[in-house]
Amino acid sequence: MGAKEEIITLEQALDLERDDSVALYKRHVNPGLCTLLGIIGFDRRFVEAHGMTVRDDHGREYLDFLGGYGALNFGHNHPEIVEAVRRVESMPNILQASIGCLVGPLGASLAAILPGEVRRSFFCSSGAEAVEGALKLARIATGRTDLVYAEGSFHGKSFGALSVTGRAKYQTPFEPLVPGCHMVPYGDIEALEAALAARECAAFIIEPIQGEGGIVVPPDGYLSAAAAACRATGTLLIVDEIQTGLGRTGAVFASEHEDVAPDIVATAKSLGGGVMPAGAFSATAEVWDKGFGGTEKCTLHTSTFGGNARAMAAGLKSIEILMRDDLSSAAREKGERLMAGLERIASGSGLIKEVRGRGLMIGVEFYEPRVAKKLSAEYLAASVAGLLLQDHGVITAYTLNNPNVIRLEPPLIVTDAQIDHLLDAFEQVVSKHHGFLGVMAGLGRTMVSRRR
Ligand SMILES: Cc1ncc(COP(=O)(O)O)c(C=O)c1O
Repeated sequence: MGAKEEIITLEQALDLERDDSVALYKRHVNPGLCTLLGIIGFDRRFVEAHGMTVRDDHGREYLDFLGGYGALNFGHNHPEIVEAVRRVESMPNILQASIGCLVGPLGASLAAILPGEVRRSFFCSSGAEAVEGALKLARIATGRTDLVYAEGSFHGKSFGALSVTGRAKYQTPFEPLVPGCHMVPYGDIEALEAALAARECAAFIIEPIQGEGGIVVPPDGYLSAAAAACRATGTLLIVDEIQTGLGRTGAVFASEHEDVAPDIVATAKSLGGGVMPAGAFSATAEVWDKGFGGTEKCTLHTSTFGGNARAMAAGLKSIEILMRDDLSSAAREKGERLMAGLERIASGSGLIKEVRGRGLMIGVEFYEPRVAKKLSAEYLAASVAGLLLQDHGVITAYTLNNPNVIRLEPPLIVTDAQIDHLLDAFEQVVSKHHGFLGVMAGLGRTMVSRRR
């Protein structure tokens, strides 16, 4: 047996050299992830972040166009949200013995902005946890078991959420998953109607725009037709707004683009303002009461950290800022500028297949070149992201279910000048390095010069 590790104080941890903290991560956390990030040049030590900007330990500044996969709609460390958490620092943060005084107010704020008649919320700490609760509520409220989900979807990696996440890579190693889950193609209303026809499904869960699937916008009218199909068959409609919510797509919630009134909505990511982990599933009073109404059923679903005072304070301040600063309109306007610039670049580049998205949720899909097909599918977008980071100080990433797509999801406070910087950088990367092999070689060259 090797010698037991010694505990490390926070002060010691903050003072560690980068190589030492990476070595500890490799030994005690996830060595494979460390290697993967190293290959694409993302193994840096970022030490400070404000708004759109992140700084590394060499003092270099980067613009964050990844935005925490949609968790940073307000930017890094928004001062008002940080201050909101400070304001409650002497309150009991976790005290199950009574009802936290900020939980009801955040429930009310969410009810004020959520689509349709969704009024009651359960608070938790992550997206997957919000989806778990939504699925359980659908089963108990309908007395049915089956669940329908879309191909390419991403709803999280806990068992229930994974069971409705449409990517074999994540599902297969953990089978058998939750039984009774059926996959339909995204955007195909006939397939959905056929799946629901037997009136045996508890719920259909859908992202109004697929995030990890590669930023996929469904055909016009699909969401409202899906809502009608659910209503006609007694199936509950769960809309997963975890990535699309809180202004990201140019509306407060993406369901609004088609005036859809869901039965259950899942939120997370930016609900905690990028400062605290927070998630929620919210339902109409009718659905909620069927599921968890009355003293017998009110504790069927619980969470130790759900409703903690600091997360609630962050949530309240985030919603206040979202509405006060009209960040959804900002997302719409900035998104148009970004989209127009990317389309212009795409039209002159043989590498880019499509630019798509809505508001500030934009994906750029690359062609799969014939050479090195397997490799390119996994690494072309990652290599472009690597070059954007190393040569231009811009943080981006590929989408989990479709690694051939680069996602652009900057904080909604991004400025026109920052968008223009990204466009300039993007144009240089895709025009300077010709073809897939050119991009890979370009990344290789900058990696080597960085290590020297
Ligand atoms: C649409 C959607 N649902 C659920 C999740 C899972 O959220 P979390 O990673 O907080 O569990 C994600 C995460 O990317 C997501 O994009």
